[in-house]
Amino acid sequence: MSKKNVRNIDDIIIAERNRAFKEVDTSPESQFTKTLTWPVKCVVGPGLEGAIACESKVGYVNGSKGWLIYRGYNIFDLCIHSSFEEVSYLLLYGQLPAASEFSTFNKELKANRNIVRTIRLLMAFPVEKMNAMAGLRLGTNLMRQEFTYVDHEAYRPDFASNIYSDEDSIPMETVPRGESQAIYEFRYGQGIKKPRIIEDDLKHPASFETCYRLISGIPTLVGAISKIRSGSLPINSDPKLSHAGNLLYMITGRKPTSIEERIMDICLILHADHGMNASTFATMVVASTLSDIFFAAGAGIAALNGPLHGGANEKVLNMLKEIGSPSQVKSWYKDARRKKKKIMGFGHRVYKAYDPRARILAPLAEYLVKFKGDKELQNLFNIAQTLEKEVVGTLGVERKIFTNVDFYSGIVYTGLGIAPELFTPLFAVSRISGWTARVMEYLKANRIFRPRAIYSGEFNNKYKPINKRR
Ligand code: SDX
Repeated sequence: MSKKNVRNIDDIIIAERNRAFKEVDTSPESQFTKTLTWPVKCVVGPGLEGAIACESKVGYVNGSKGWLIYRGYNIFDLCIHSSFEEVSYLLLYGQLPAASEFSTFNKELKANRNIVRTIRLLMAFPVEKMNAMAGLRLGTNLMRQEFTYVDHEAYRPDFASNIYSDEDSIPMETVPRGESQAIYEFRYGQGIKKPRIIEDDLKHPASFETCYRLISGIPTLVGAISKIRSGSLPINSDPKLSHAGNLLYMITGRKPTSIEERIMDICLILHADHGMNASTFATMVVASTLSDIFFAAGAGIAALNGPLHGGANEKVLNMLKEIGSPSQVKSWYKDARRKKKKIMGFGHRVYKAYDPRARILAPLAEYLVKFKGDKELQNLFNIAQTLEKEVVGTLGVERKIFTNVDFYSGIVYTGLGIAPELFTPLFAVSRISGWTARVMEYLKANRIFRPRAIYSGEFNNKYKPINKRR
């Protein structure tokens, strides 16, 4: 049953791929695909629109035609044939791995999935009361604490043994006596590896090893945040499951079906890289100062949190629920246009065509909704389809404002049993591969990012003492 269903998913993507290739030519935009000789002349609009930040071989967004390329491979082909693990290797190293390279890479990812000490530190914070992205950002800082040489345990004076304590004044630093095992100790077969001091972190702000830690640790953090927010203990990854399978398992506590695992894997591939988007640029700006990759990933998470960027898919779901039924779409949309509201899940700084990722996510959402037989989700999907027709038929025609990646991803994630507050963290689970790949590439010929601002203020003001001012 499930093998056939997984094949159905491949067939869906193959059909969408063939449709896209039939509808749109794949010629790259000459002005955005060449080797650069600095300085570069570009026309820059507000929000650095049109500005060229760097040259890169990691990925290319063909905004005028609606294509997405990772290291020369079309996203449709990667979704059909590849996996998130293999795509992460491709983004980081620039080529698809040989079998031996892939098995070593997979071992690295598996070895870095369980970060029990970091999760235990995270559990000391009120994660259930925090914005999930704030929890994720905190978690990456705690990961940094665990894995960087400078902050390593061995370098912190052991207060407990240096403070004399009599019976009734046990200093706070010592672990409370009495429990045979700390309640948050995870009982596992696998021995938890003590973190090694990573010497090279002292010299390099980013190493492939720290990239693996983040690519593997971020899904574990998201899983832990999900479990803590639902009032239960985090669970460790299952070495038998894939990256996508473990992500769903650690979030929901349930082993995913092969369909759910395949759809999650495709979502991770689709969100892995996307040129100089706000969160990638934020990550690179921090890394360009030679701060380290953990801080840089924290900056990316902060940028991704914004509803204009990674936070849109949660807003889309709220919008669809607010509309309530397909018959309400027309009046809702008319009112939104009158109020010049931005319709979440539409529009894009680069795509002036249909987002290729939405070409895949829409039929996946439809398939999952049917597969689950969830009436409420079916209704949200019907509203989405009706609204999409309205928006593409008006803003699409008038202003090239089309469906983007966030419009259907929320329906897919809901179908996978994921709560809305985890949608944006999922974006980070995937985009960490693009962030790390671009940081590693940029640091090879690093130059700190430092644009200029045009000053339109005053000159030659004379200083007046406070009692002489207005
Ligand atoms: C992502 O950069 C990336 O690659 C991002 C991303 C990635 O993978 O990293 O693709 C992921 O962030 C997708 C986008 C998710 N966000 C949303 O769906 C939020 C809704 N979309 C808009 O906020 C907007 O389209 C942006 C932020 C995505 C892009 O905005 P721009 O390029 O800065 O365009 P703009 O805000 O300057 O708008 C230009 C005009 C404005 O009208 P005027 O003031 O000129 O009259 O287009 C209008 C806007 O009002 N417009 C919209 C609209 N998006 C733009 N009008 C209605 N609905 C919209 N969605």
